[in-house]
Amino acid sequence: MSSIVERFQQAGQGQVFAFLSQLSPEAQRTLQAEAAEIDLAEIAGLTRSLLGPGGAAAANLNGLEPTPYEARPENGGRGASWSEAKSVGESALRGGRVAAFTVAGGQGTRLGYDGPKGTFPVTPLRQKTLFQVFAEKIRATGLRYGRPIPWYIMTSNQNHAATEAFFAEHRWFGLDRGRVHLFRQGRMPAVDFTGRILLETPGSIALSPDGHGGSLRALERSGAIAQMKADGVDTISYFQVDNPLVRCVDPTFIGWHIRGRSEVSSKMVPKAYAEEKVGLFCRQGGKTVVVEYSDLPMERQREIDPVSGRLRFLAGSIAIHVLDREFVHRVATGGADVALPFHRADKKIATVDAAGAPVWPEKPNGVKFELFVFDALPFARNPLVIETRREDDFAPVKNADGLDSPVTCREAQVAQFGRWLAANGAALPAGPLPAIEVSPSFGYDEDSFADSWRQRHPKPVVAPGLYLD
Ligand code: UD1
Repeated sequence: MSSIVERFQQAGQGQVFAFLSQLSPEAQRTLQAEAAEIDLAEIAGLTRSLLGPGGAAAANLNGLEPTPYEARPENGGRGASWSEAKSVGESALRGGRVAAFTVAGGQGTRLGYDGPKGTFPVTPLRQKTLFQVFAEKIRATGLRYGRPIPWYIMTSNQNHAATEAFFAEHRWFGLDRGRVHLFRQGRMPAVDFTGRILLETPGSIALSPDGHGGSLRALERSGAIAQMKADGVDTISYFQVDNPLVRCVDPTFIGWHIRGRSEVSSKMVPKAYAEEKVGLFCRQGGKTVVVEYSDLPMERQREIDPVSGRLRFLAGSIAIHVLDREFVHRVATGGADVALPFHRADKKIATVDAAGAPVWPEKPNGVKFELFVFDALPFARNPLVIETRREDDFAPVKNADGLDSPVTCREAQVAQFGRWLAANGAALPAGPLPAIEVSPSFGYDEDSFADSWRQRHPKPVVAPGLYLD
């Protein structure tokens, strides 16, 4: 018997190989390779800590306070500091110190779209996909600052091949192929409520992506961190695949991070309303933390600050961060004192019964373990929380309809294009804006748009179908 089977048996996980003798030699090898990805000691530890008594306990909210943050100039922040941050960030971009990083390993189940989420069409007219929008923004930013920006994209086993094929089919959207780096995140096995690893089929383990927090170890393991070091990149601009409005590489934000000697900086928007489903930046025990909306009781989310009259817990996380490369290396390689905690999610997990027949549970039958990137914040030196305007940075596509849907996302893009046009003197029609689009090559933020406008004098008529390129 192979030693991996013995190791699983000794760990009380022999069920993983229950059907081994019925599998073809090739299927046996595949199953053993999957098993080899699993850290049995990690699973045993998680079973004790997250599945044992108290394991499903509510999040620790002791001593939770709102976090201070850097307010925008129009909201009382110091204009001079914002300008200084911008010039620091711009010189980092001119120096080639910055990489863009997209986490795109999620399964996008809520959107109900079959395919990597980055291949979902989002723009109002041209129906550009999320990946195309990011690629064009990254390319345009590199051109503006005279240094191409490397782009790292984390995929998962489920979508890696499809993502790579999509980029190849679109010739890497005009980017230098050697500067676009796709790598897979790690996987974790699902377990039942007693910690026994579940099979998805007789020949495969129920494995799923290890959460966006797995990006830190995946950056290290894939060689991305070493490559950045070799290329002189020390600053990583992190964003999620679901948000086409994001400024993929924002000089001002990057400048705040660098001049603050921060290891992780984060963008916040004031929550639009108490029930908004975003994580919240808070302080706890002298550290900056993010508390998920589902973990903070609604009565606390509704508390009003008596001085400002606004929500007390105001600082919504839009999952945009700047990470210091050496910090990522330290967390990814650093052992227990900087280990991100796993979170437990009780789920319906397709599995097999004792005879190997498929089982589709109707209620949660097990647990998935996930890491969250914002759990790195308490380990970071000088974490900064920087305010941004929602309309400049955040219009995610998460749901098929309603809030955060393709419709709301298109509206936010059109509104942004309209603001840029109006700011440069274009006459906007009365009433709701028609479907218009600005290509990132014309403008991907206020400054780049204004520069193109000055140089090219476009004089557009703002009518349905207007496309500025
Ligand atoms: C997330 C944040 C929330 C924040 C919101 C902003 C968590 C737990 N919550 O919510 O605080 O306010 O975004 O939009 O993160 N991903 C991977 N691999 C994984 C899992 C996810 O790459 O294993 C990527 C997804 O592709 C996506 C991003 O992480 O780009 C967010 O994942 P998702 O689970 O959709 O987060 P939300 O619940 O929307």
